Amino acid sequence: MNPLSQFIDAWNDPAMRHAMVNHFPIVLSVIGIPFALLAALIGKRAKAMRWTALAFYVALMASAFVTKNSGDDAHEAIRGSLSDEAHEVLEEHEELGDKVWWFASAVTLLLGVSLARNPKVRVPSAWVAVAGSLFLAGWVANAADHGGRLVYEYGAGTPDEIAELFASADSPVEATEDARVAFFRNEVRPILTTHCLRCHNPTRAKRSGGLDQSTIAGLLQGGLSGPALVPGWPDKSLLILAVRHEDPDLQMPAGKDKLTDDLIAVLERWIADGAVWEPFEFARSRNPVPE
Ligand code: HEC
Repeated sequence: MNPLSQFIDAWNDPAMRHAMVNHFPIVLSVIGIPFALLAALIGKRAKAMRWTALAFYVALMASAFVTKNSGDDAHEAIRGSLSDEAHEVLEEHEELGDKVWWFASAVTLLLGVSLARNPKVRVPSAWVAVAGSLFLAGWVANAADHGGRLVYEYGAGTPDEIAELFASADSPVEATEDARVAFFRNEVRPILTTHCLRCHNPTRAKRSGGLDQSTIAGLLQGGLSGPALVPGWPDKSLLILAVRHEDPDLQMPAGKDKLTDDLIAVLERWIADGAVWEPFEFARSRNPVPE
């Protein structure tokens, strides 16, 4: 795929679009501060400076507005794919994000007022605008932090791709009564999806340690250190040693809190019971006739 069509693809995805446009208000709110400050310091002599600061915040206001709308679209698109916990963060993120353009308008207004000739009006409004620009940058950082957590901790906007790795590639065979399949589906798979797949999937060069955990084949083949699991033998399975933090050099999930004992026990039981995976058949439509 060429870069342009890649770009268009990403743009058509509401979550990706939001991820792209949200950087404008973030950057503008930070580099706006010195402009507002300079305008207040040398304002009287340098009219151009004051106009520049004003133009800056008009751009910030507009980009914040566009970002808010793209955020609403993104929310619409990922509705239903989030956990309750992620949903709470999303609500906070939206509340913070919605106000950015509002505060940006207030700073813009102050900078507009500070164009006045009368120093009694100009000076205070210019300095309140400086204070406003600092406050605004802090506010934006907080909103962005919430947004970042949504994406990197909860996979908001990205789960389709990962869920697809499990779901649509191979269609589940109906009528499997094996309780171990239900156990895999209800207990095991959610752990892998929530805690591991972000770094261990075949997409976007995210095959950390060479290990792809999106399929049983990937786990059996393993990564740079060999098979990640040995069905029937949790104590011999690298995956288990990694989540138990037995080896100081391999503690998974990397950089995150250790899984709870309950979750580790689920993985152990799953492997002890034979590491049964979702049964599937290969959808023929996905496999072109071999040459
Ligand atoms: C934040 C990213 C991240 C997450 C989340 C993560 N891993 Fe890893 N994992 C890595 C990286 C990077 C490596 C390779 C470097 C290393 O060995 O530390 C790795 C290596 C591994 C390996 C060794 C692969 C090999 O053959 O060398 C195993 C097994 C593993 N991870 C299991 C897991 C399990 C199980 C989870 C979920 C509970 C998990 N990882 C979550 C980043 C991650």
